[in-house]
Amino acid sequence: MHTTKEMPKTDHRENITESVERGKALWEDNNCIGCHTLIGEGAYFAPELGNVFYRRGAGNHETFKAFMNGWMKAQPLRIPGRRQMPQFNLNDQEIDDLADFLKFTAEMDVNSWPPNIEG
Ligand code: HEC
Repeated sequence: MHTTKEMPKTDHRENITESVERGKALWEDNNCIGCHTLIGEGAYFAPELGNVFYRRGAGNHETFKAFMNGWMKAQPLRIPGRRQMPQFNLNDQEIDDLADFLKFTAEMDVNSWPPNIEG
């Protein structure tokens, strides 16, 4: 009862736009959770992305979209000894949608999880 009452105040569902919805669908269709965690849930192969908006975008929407565009297009980095992320061949609109979804996720009030900026 308490959770149901409190959720609208903490998940900021009023910030869900069509772009956030498209980004969530892309997140699911491409199985990002198969390697990453989001707010602690998922796989432990790759970094937590619940706060990547603050880590790589410094909390700035334009900075983060630019980071995401560069990052997604540069994969795989092929740096020896480092885990690889696949190339998903997403277009600019799709990458923006994913950035908006990750921004939305970062702005949810999840009791400051994860506990540090590096996830
Ligand atoms: C096969 C595993 C795999 C999948 C699937 C995957 N990633 Fe990754 N991702 C990685 C790895 C490994 C890294 C870290 C690479 C590095 O640091 O060189 C990474 C890093 C990232 C980063 C940068 C994180 C940071 O802190 O700098 C972002 C953003 C990201 N992935 C987004 C995504 C999105 C969005 C998807 C789905 C479209 C996705 N990833 C799917 C393996 C994966």
